[in-house]
Amino acid sequence: MKITVYMATSLDGFIADKNGGVDWLNALSEQTDSDEDYGYAKFISEVDVLVMGRNTYDQVLSFGMWPYGELPVTVITHRDLPTPLPDEAMVSTQAGTPAEILAQLAADGLNHVYLDGGELIRQFLSADLVDEIIITKVPALLGDGLPPFTQPLPLDRWETHRVQGYPNGFVQTHLLKIKESAAS
Ligand SMILES: NC(=O)c1ccc[n+]([C@@H]2O[C@H](COP(=O)([O-])OP(=O)(O)OC[C@H]3O[C@@H](n4cnc5c(N)ncnc54)[C@H](OP(=O)(O)O)[C@@H]3O)[C@@H](O)[C@H]2O)c1
Repeated sequence: MKITVYMATSLDGFIADKNGGVDWLNALSEQTDSDEDYGYAKFISEVDVLVMGRNTYDQVLSFGMWPYGELPVTVITHRDLPTPLPDEAMVSTQAGTPAEILAQLAADGLNHVYLDGGELIRQFLSADLVDEIIITKVPALLGDGLPPFTQPLPLDRWETHRVQGYPNGFVQTHLLKIKESAAS
């Protein structure tokens, strides 16, 4: 399986403000070139399933529109989801360790996972189960907020595959985990 994190952070490294809000991100995206999607459409067309933490799901619901079409979405949560689900949404739930979650996805024939949500991403990184990280840094300073990472990415295990800057100040960094055999 391939597990990819695709996220945006503020210039000072936060994925959300301290209340979990991402208005700053949505506002910046709307202000900028509407034809530019920072590779998102291509990326989303290549994944089999979006796996997101419950807090991220609740935040997405607050947008009032479902942005993922018919892409299967698995929400990682201990609680039932509010009903009804958004129109056309294909949403299921799971709970468990990262390894248990991946085992179920593999049993369902799903190979490429888009992993989203701060706490969930940290769990998968701790379990060494992330293969690829695509971070788009946007020119907003929050001063405080939710950090995506709380542990180092060992430099001997991760390499920078590509860095791309955009005229509006967005900078996208694409990191790949070096395979065990190549790293040793
Ligand atoms: N800037 C970006 O690109 C970006 C990307 C993603 C998210 N965000 C923002 O970041 C915020 C959310 O991040 P977050 O760190 O608060 O949370 P999160 O990872 O989205 O969700 C955490 C919650 O998911 C459930 N959960 C996590 N691991 C679980 C497991 N192994 N088994 C069962 N349930 C599990 C728990 O909820 P329950 O136990 O209550 O069910 C937990 O409190 C949102 O504000 C979102 O908008 C921003």
